[in-house]
Amino acid sequence: MATIIGGLAASHVPAIGGAMAKGLQKDPYWAPFFDGFEAPCRWLEAAKPDAAVVIYNDHGLNFFLDKMPTFAVGAAPEYRNDDEGWGIPVMAPFKGDTKLSWHIIETLVESEFDPVTCQEMLVDHAYSLPMELFLRGRAHDIPTVPVVVNTVQHPLPSLRRCFKLGQAIGRAIESYPEDLKVVVIGTGGLSHQLEGQRAGFINTAFDRRCMDAMTGDIESLLGIDPHELVELAGSQGVEVMNWVAMRGALLGDVHELHRNYHLPISNTASGIMLIENRPRLAQAA
Ligand code: DHB
Ligand code: FE
Repeated sequence: MATIIGGLAASHVPAIGGAMAKGLQKDPYWAPFFDGFEAPCRWLEAAKPDAAVVIYNDHGLNFFLDKMPTFAVGAAPEYRNDDEGWGIPVMAPFKGDTKLSWHIIETLVESEFDPVTCQEMLVDHAYSLPMELFLRGRAHDIPTVPVVVNTVQHPLPSLRRCFKLGQAIGRAIESYPEDLKVVVIGTGGLSHQLEGQRAGFINTAFDRRCMDAMTGDIESLLGIDPHELVELAGSQGVEVMNWVAMRGALLGDVHELHRNYHLPISNTASGIMLIENRPRLAQAA
């Protein structure tokens, strides 16, 4: 049976792609951000996951306002990266695991989630940057299942709905018959507002509350409705929905192994987390 060994979360600001291309990882502006990946990368190198489920939001590359699924799941053998307009380098294609994708899709439909299924899908910076940042040399070898959550076109799914989506993904992985070690990655956030009167808005108190809730009282976040979330996190900071979905997939006992919080990168508060998912004692007995 497959096991979920852990959850990871990271912001996905496009400028990170430019900084990586220019080799600015040790530059004083960028070092506090990039250094935050050392511990999770070491953990991933030791844990050697066989597959990654990546929960992110598309920013107008594969889906646009004319056709916007609330939830979509990739079921392709390969995912091509492209740039939706930031001028950042396009990366080599990423691998898919179609068998795992269809198992997750079947479990989601049985669980009364009805995602759009994508046998062809372009992946934007919200998928490609965290893959490179966490998996480095293995980013293009580890098979993935991309899961897209609409954080763009209102009405947005509630945090509770995203959490339940994650739980269904968790049940799907745990019922997958192959002996795979799987990590679940949630991308985006933390608080940021890129436009309008509140451009540059960052809410550090709320960001810390979200990070604490990942291994603490997750229920305390689930009642926040999407409009309240926009006020608390900014209209793009709602991407923390992807973190909550990732957290939902961790069905075992969760332990925070690492966090990094730094601001700003671009207009955004950067959060990085590594959460270990240990089997419940009752399950292990
Ligand atoms: C920025 C942040 C994002 O989440 C994004 O998708 C694009 C840009 C930024 O802060 O620049
Ligand atoms: Fe974003």
